[in-house]
Amino acid sequence: MKNTFGNSLGITIFGESHGPYIGVVMDGLAPGIKIDRDVIRHLLDLRKPSGKISTSRVEEDEFLFASGEYKGYTTGTPLTILIPNKSQHSSDYDKDEERLARPGHADYAAHVKYKGFEDYHGGGHFSGRITAAVVAAAGVIRPVLLSKGIVVGTHIYSLGNIKDREFEDLRADIDTLYDRAYPVLDSKAAEDMIALTEKTASEGDSVGGVLESVILGLPAGLGEPWFDSMESVLSHALFSIPGIKGIQFGAGFDLVNSNGSKFNDPFFLENGTVKTKTNNNGGINGGITNGMPVTFRLAVKPTPSIYKEQDTVVIGKEKEGKLVINGRHDPAIIHRARVVVDAVTMLTVYDILSSKYGTDFFSGEVKE
Ligand SMILES: Cc1cc2nc3c(=O)[nH]c(=O)nc-3n(C[C@H](O)[C@H](O)[C@H](O)COP(=O)(O)O)c2cc1C
Repeated sequence: MKNTFGNSLGITIFGESHGPYIGVVMDGLAPGIKIDRDVIRHLLDLRKPSGKISTSRVEEDEFLFASGEYKGYTTGTPLTILIPNKSQHSSDYDKDEERLARPGHADYAAHVKYKGFEDYHGGGHFSGRITAAVVAAAGVIRPVLLSKGIVVGTHIYSLGNIKDREFEDLRADIDTLYDRAYPVLDSKAAEDMIALTEKTASEGDSVGGVLESVILGLPAGLGEPWFDSMESVLSHALFSIPGIKGIQFGAGFDLVNSNGSKFNDPFFLENGTVKTKTNNNGGINGGITNGMPVTFRLAVKPTPSIYKEQDTVVIGKEKEGKLVINGRHDPAIIHRARVVVDAVTMLTVYDILSSKYGTDFFSGEVKE
């Protein structure tokens, strides 16, 4: 029953939606990483709810370092980030004498696993709220990844039937997305997606979609051939994000009925560097990076908490019931989930690089 991921960099997340704090312990960080609080703040702001397309629960997401930071640098000992919860409305969840399981949410499964001891308010440990801790953790390492030329970006590829434009200039698009609260490259597509989300919300329903991500700057040769292939490790981490239900690398499911002549990515040389003309394999061959951008798409489900009446069961009793949800929820989680995807990807990449090249790969200058 552990909540830790990673080998060289272990990430442990903790907290409940309505508890006093959520947070993260990062164990195995290099010493001497300069912590840029503005980057952490910016990433947390990208995750924040906004307007009618998000839950009305807005947290300030103040953060503090309880350990592992000294004079603005990582010490190399476990770094603990705490984020206080301030906008809890636990009474929204106390109204029912009998607690009804939310279909699509973790209420029932968590009750079975934790034998009734779980703090279920606001989804407890299964709330999207916990993702703020992961995002803050990624804010610590984003600058050192950038210093190695590694950058991650994600956009909403599609929401309902509405599609964003394809990635074009990868680096420029990633930089644009970093500055955009709503992560869509084409402004008309963004407008249409927001309108669809608002319409769905007004009907008491929710909507899902597909995120598309790119990792730029990874060297060729990362990853293991079988169980710790790049696809395996990234999928392991990304499926941990609440609401992620599918993943494909490169062209994935789009080309399963295609031919080798179309799916293969022909190699060529550019100034002595091996590249491929297409990238249907998403930058990974045999579980190992080939030096091309690593690309993947994620299916993000519609938010399970909806305001329409649903059939369900009473938790802990042999009884059926009808659920009408109280509480504050996102009509779509996809726009908030993108920075969580970026964060989990960055943490995974850091761990893979640190495992291969050693903790000091990311160290700052040695202090006299
Ligand atoms: C950023 C973010 C925000 C979320 N907000 C909500 C929410 O407001 N209401 C809700 O029911 N689920 C929300 N979720 C999704 C649930 O946490 C998730 O569906 C639930 O834990 C069950 O896990 P599963 O969907 O992976 O099976 C959110 C997820 C993320 C990543």
